[in-house]
Amino acid sequence: MTRTIIQTENMCFTYPDGTSALHNINIAIEEGERVAIVGSNGAGKSTLFAHFNGINQPTSGLIKIDGKPAVYEKKELLQIRQKVGIVFQNPDDQLFAPTVVEDVAFGPMNLGLSEEEVDERVEEALEMVGMSGLEKKAPHHLSGGQKKRVAIAGILAMRPEIMVLDEPTTGLDPKGVEQIMEILYKLSHEDMSIIIASHDVEMVTQFADKIFVLHEGQIIGQGTPEEIFNNYETLKKAHLRPPKSAELLHMLKSNGVSCDVKLTVEEAYHEILHTIGAESFHNLLHLIKNQLHHRLLHELGEENYHKMLHILEEEQINHQNSITHQKFNNHE
Ligand SMILES: Nc1ncnc2c1ncn2[C@@H]1O[C@H](COP(=O)(O)OP(=O)(O)OP(=O)(O)O)[C@@H](O)[C@H]1O
Ligand SMILES: [Mg+2]
Repeated sequence: MTRTIIQTENMCFTYPDGTSALHNINIAIEEGERVAIVGSNGAGKSTLFAHFNGINQPTSGLIKIDGKPAVYEKKELLQIRQKVGIVFQNPDDQLFAPTVVEDVAFGPMNLGLSEEEVDERVEEALEMVGMSGLEKKAPHHLSGGQKKRVAIAGILAMRPEIMVLDEPTTGLDPKGVEQIMEILYKLSHEDMSIIIASHDVEMVTQFADKIFVLHEGQIIGQGTPEEIFNNYETLKKAHLRPPKSAELLHMLKSNGVSCDVKLTVEEAYHEILHTIGAESFHNLLHLIKNQLHHRLLHELGEENYHKMLHILEEEQINHQNSITHQKFNNHE
């Protein structure tokens, strides 16, 4: 049976300056789930996350952590923060100690662990994010990507049950993104619940089981990546776009090519290969005849246009002949 680890009921939040940032948020996150919150700048993602470990207290409604309504007292908040680890959007909000090692050790030390246990956790966390060897460096002398990794290590060393990462891959190079993704997958396989906020739809698609779309402080969509990224209306409203591979397949599909819309590059690649097959030239002709007919006629003139069609048709016959030939040879 699944355990709901974070649940909100009609949760609203208004900042002291009167900014109403969250309205009637009703979400449930199950143990071990990989969840992504997507939404444009200012949608309320970071504000929502600050409720997950009690930094923000709902103005109305409530949030339950592991089945219990959050209590905003010192002892209870400590318990929540042990359970829920948040990696902030900006590492400069998180890193403060004079050296990397002291920064990562700060959380576990406050849990009252033995020195050996703290050392072991710090070493393991730095190793996991690929930052071993930079223990003595000052965090403010690190690059942006390195700071992000140290910030993640600091939370990992606390060994929380739920890891919340606000924009974990923003500003990282492709290798850095891959490393962070690997860490998140690894943690997820160890049954940690992971919640991320991101604008990176490619990454979100690969990572999440469940997505919530946040727009102007309200949840306007939730579902699997397939459900969310095939719902163009919700995406448009939230000022988001689908992954590029989905956009490409969607374009092909709406131009008459018989294919399914796939979200990841890998799936899209197989779908396109499957679609091309022996019917590619037929599809191409179909496309040209329907979509580009007028433009090509205008550019090439009628005679050249018909010559081109003729060549394409010949090529199609040659292509099919070669497939038949290959099949025949394979049977031999
Ligand atoms: N400390 C604050 N005081 C007042 N208003 C704030 C504060 N922090 C955020 N806001 C406002 O709350 C709204 C939500 O901001 P939030 O930072 O949660 O958005 P976000 O979805 O995380 O955006 P981004 O993608 O840019 O990180 C915005 O209108 C923002 O101006
Ligand atoms: Mg934010």
